[in-house]
Amino acid sequence: MPGNLLIGFGTETGNSELLAMDAQRIAAERGIESDCACMDEIDVNRIKLQDYVLIICSTWGDGEQPDNAQDLYDSMQEVGETDLNGSHFAVLALGDTAFDLFCEAGIQWDQLLEQKGSTRLHERLDCDTDYEDDAEEWLNVVLDKIALMANE
Ligand SMILES: Cc1cc2nc3c(=O)[nH]c(=O)nc-3n(C[C@H](O)[C@H](O)[C@H](O)COP(=O)(O)O)c2cc1C
Repeated sequence: MPGNLLIGFGTETGNSELLAMDAQRIAAERGIESDCACMDEIDVNRIKLQDYVLIICSTWGDGEQPDNAQDLYDSMQEVGETDLNGSHFAVLALGDTAFDLFCEAGIQWDQLLEQKGSTRLHERLDCDTDYEDDAEEWLNVVLDKIALMANE
């Protein structure tokens, strides 16, 4: 497949990681090869090389990034405003509406990737605690889009 897909997750208790693994399986079903990695294993230069980036990230504390997403998020803020030109992204945010800053970390990723020049290929999904079905449906739609674009 032309293009490459990176699925990056940020998590504290594993929900985002499980969804990232689902995403990789759904991608494979569409013939899309991907890498799936925790954000603390991803270098900012890697993001710059990707054609497609899928971010799956929960929110912790009081609207904060998970510990394993914070460094990459901070590094990404330092890259140039056109450094991600030509790439595409989508964000799946996990959270809980019981908190004031619902899905704030995912919202921050969504804004940051756009600000750095990447193109949003699908609207962000903000998930409450009962998220499995919505997340699965969203992943299917997003990966259908990537499969179509990558084969153009
Ligand atoms: C201590 C704590 C703080 C949290 N803070 C927020 C928050 O500020 N905003 C939000 O939307 N969700 C918040 N959540 C909910 C988590 O984001 C949610 O449970 C998510 O599914 C966890 O995914 P993970 O296992 O990938 O980390 C919090 C949960 C806990 C236990």
